[in-house]
Amino acid sequence: MSLTVVPVDSPALLDRFLSVGALIYSDDPDAVLPLAPLLRRRLRSRQRGARDGALHLLLAMDGDTPVGTISVLFDQRHAAHRGESVAFFGFFEVVQGGGRSTEPTVAKALFDAARSKARSLGAEVLRGPRNFSRIEETGLTVTGWGTRPPLLAGHHPARYQALLEAQGFSPHHDVLAYDTPMLTAAGEERQLPEHLAARSDAVDIEGLVVRDASMLRIVRDLKLAHAVFVQGFADVPDNTPMPLSQWLAVGMPLLALTDARMLQLATVNGRPAGFALCFPDPNEALVAARGRATPAGLFRALRATRGIKTASFKLLGVLPEYRGTGLHARLIARAIDGCLRAGFTRLEASLIDGRNKPMRGIVEAAGMQVYRRYRVYETPLRG
Ligand SMILES: CC(C)(COP(=O)(O)OP(=O)(O)OC[C@H]1O[C@@H](n2cnc3c(N)ncnc32)[C@H](O)[C@@H]1OP(=O)(O)O)[C@@H](O)C(=O)NCCC(=O)NCCS
Repeated sequence: MSLTVVPVDSPALLDRFLSVGALIYSDDPDAVLPLAPLLRRRLRSRQRGARDGALHLLLAMDGDTPVGTISVLFDQRHAAHRGESVAFFGFFEVVQGGGRSTEPTVAKALFDAARSKARSLGAEVLRGPRNFSRIEETGLTVTGWGTRPPLLAGHHPARYQALLEAQGFSPHHDVLAYDTPMLTAAGEERQLPEHLAARSDAVDIEGLVVRDASMLRIVRDLKLAHAVFVQGFADVPDNTPMPLSQWLAVGMPLLALTDARMLQLATVNGRPAGFALCFPDPNEALVAARGRATPAGLFRALRATRGIKTASFKLLGVLPEYRGTGLHARLIARAIDGCLRAGFTRLEASLIDGRNKPMRGIVEAAGMQVYRRYRVYETPLRG
């Protein structure tokens, strides 16, 4: 048998790396394939990425046939801020019946290579999946097939869980995607749950302004939101401060489709206090392109944007000094109202860390249901 795992160090190998995911998900009705040229460009840039740590891509070959992929990222920011020496694996894919090697053999070869790479980078723990960053494609799909992954979330075949667990990984935490209809069965707008509305109405903070984002001054407003993200999320498990450049790179492309009323910002005497950020779920349109950035694929995706029904509640944050004031409820109330005014009929909230009790308390008390669950696994590298 000629199973090898090689570093992806040439454009030709990067093409073969990309071909694995394309092959696995081409017939999967739940999958939202990324636009291939954009993914290629992003992977190339992250392979070089000095500031965020380089993304090391590994490809399993059975003879001349690509049969699996994995990535390893040593997150220096995580080490600095959380005091844990963790390497994250991502892009874990194993082709079914792709060569003469069995799937468990390919998975073992990939994880042996990933462990060895992670050790060479100085990591003490291997955790994942996490493809790009904490807020993008984190966790392995463990429930929710038959639904589509939301914006910034991944998707995997059901067979991966057993493959991963057989490699000695144990669950670290889950991250959850919730949803709920925004209209009643009769097609009327659903009201905010009473307790949330009451808390929103009772907010009493001197100097408080809660407003829609301004598309004309969107960079200013994204910077304001970034300040909340850095200060307000410091105590969120596994969080590390995201550089402004990365924040803008993720946020800016989403704005083209977003109604400003879905983006709520709170200031107190002009200083950042909180935000609630919802976006149309572009996956509902992107799925139509089937990963093809051809004129026809892009046209299909563009046309489908008009039919997006889901508003994705991506982030809610209140600075510690304004917690317990009900400001979170005011922000939620206004953001959801903005989603309704913009015509969305389904609300989804993702990805919420299973350990984040306040946030889970809020969405569960509002009647939202988990429709997808992702699991982050880890294994020690010592011994
Ligand atoms: C999430 C967040 C916006 C909530 O705002 P807050 O001012 O802290 O909220 P409150 O303390 O008023 O609590 C809100 C609700 O959560 C519930 N809650 C709080 N802590 C809880 C816990 N440990 N377990 C269960 N429910 C809890 C409260 O009971 C309250 O419900 P109520 O309105 O029925 O009383 C705020 O804590 C925050 O910014 N956290 C950091 C960022 C974050 O985690 N964002 C979510 C991920 S996007």
